[in-house]
Amino acid sequence: MGATVVVGTQWGDEGKGKLTDLLAAEMEMVVRYQGGHNAGHTIVVGEESFALQLVPSGVLYDHITPVIANGVVVDPFVLLDELAMLEARGIDTSRLQVSGNAHLILPYHQQLDVLSERRLGSAKLGTTKRGIGPAYADKATRIGLRLQDLFDPGIFREKLEAALREKNPLLAKVYNKLGYDAGVLADKYLTECRPALEPYVADTVASVHEALEAGREVLFEGAQATFLDLDHGTYPFVTSSNPVAGGACVGAGVGPRHIARVIGITKAYTTRVGSGPFPAEVAGPVADRLVMAGAEFGTNTGRRRRVGWLDLVMLRHAVRLNSLSELAITKLDVLDSLEAVKVCVAYEIDGRRSAAMPYHQSDVHRARPVLEELAGWCAPLGDVTRPSDLPAEAADYLRFVECEAGVPITLVGVGPRRRQLVRRPGP
Ligand code: IMP
Repeated sequence: MGATVVVGTQWGDEGKGKLTDLLAAEMEMVVRYQGGHNAGHTIVVGEESFALQLVPSGVLYDHITPVIANGVVVDPFVLLDELAMLEARGIDTSRLQVSGNAHLILPYHQQLDVLSERRLGSAKLGTTKRGIGPAYADKATRIGLRLQDLFDPGIFREKLEAALREKNPLLAKVYNKLGYDAGVLADKYLTECRPALEPYVADTVASVHEALEAGREVLFEGAQATFLDLDHGTYPFVTSSNPVAGGACVGAGVGPRHIARVIGITKAYTTRVGSGPFPAEVAGPVADRLVMAGAEFGTNTGRRRRVGWLDLVMLRHAVRLNSLSELAITKLDVLDSLEAVKVCVAYEIDGRRSAAMPYHQSDVHRARPVLEELAGWCAPLGDVTRPSDLPAEAADYLRFVECEAGVPITLVGVGPRRRQLVRRPGP
């Protein structure tokens, strides 16, 4: 068996953390390949709940090597805080490896994220304001600083000065803000982050390949999701990296032939945080019910998520974009009390029906959902662990989705706890 990729098929918050954590039991290495602390994973272990942003959820297992690979953008202070939180709660973090090629999120990235959102006003993207976009922009324009630069202080200072020669005038002239002193900032990072991070920084490309060559099970954990992908998502309302499964290759330094299995995580309904089109969005009492039953508030930002029905147009597109081999449906129990469950099977755009994802963004904005109504099961699923114990209507719902998607549903989440899972026969 080669590597497995876990990828969200919607706009994030599909419950990847829990699924990744469950799969981690069978894994020896768990690798984050893109994004940064814009992600938020909540994992419930026993009575304890862990909210992770940067560290792969596999950290909660003693046998796993958690890896933050080159494609991730790292705010070192956030990473150190997260490590301290885990250690304080008795979790050993010493196995963590962080790529020296990962780019740093520095204070001006975060500040520019906030300022640019403010400048955009009602046209804002609704970012997490963590500095993700500005850090990836600097990576692309080649004025970013990498973790490895911390270990060559001369280079670190030089690169920081070069970056600030561009950022300080931008802050002053466009945003009327004070700039940063390169010396003061460099001293802070070199004295506070460098020694604390040194034990974790590694050549993660080498570690991942050594694990694969030794036949170990490696899991690539995507953050955000398919429709937040910079290339394939609802641009510009996307994140600045590539969460799609192919992003694992670039973001961790492996070729596509290593990927044997791609699991798409799909919530039984849809949510989105931030701005952007959402054809199957619902409002009113049904939305309130889904938000409350699903606790749909951001792990990181506390923002109420927008909610809608499961969108099969998106799901079919996600199957293609990621070469999904199977699906995990999460939060099926959130639909427990509904008499009827709707799914979006196609879009209507200017009077025409389309079962495929429109390539033109304006069409996605205009798309109206064509909804199909399925019978609800009106019974609690929280204690179901065998497929044969699912109510007939819930089993029908799963069969309908898997038939539309064209890939089997192998896992079904019926609650937040590790044990609240139904395993179905695989491909
Ligand atoms: P950014 O990643 O902070 O630049 O935000 C860009 C868009 O991605 C915004 O709409 C965010 O709400 C969304 N986003 C970023 N990370 C996540 C996530 O982990 N879950 C859900 N949405 C996210």
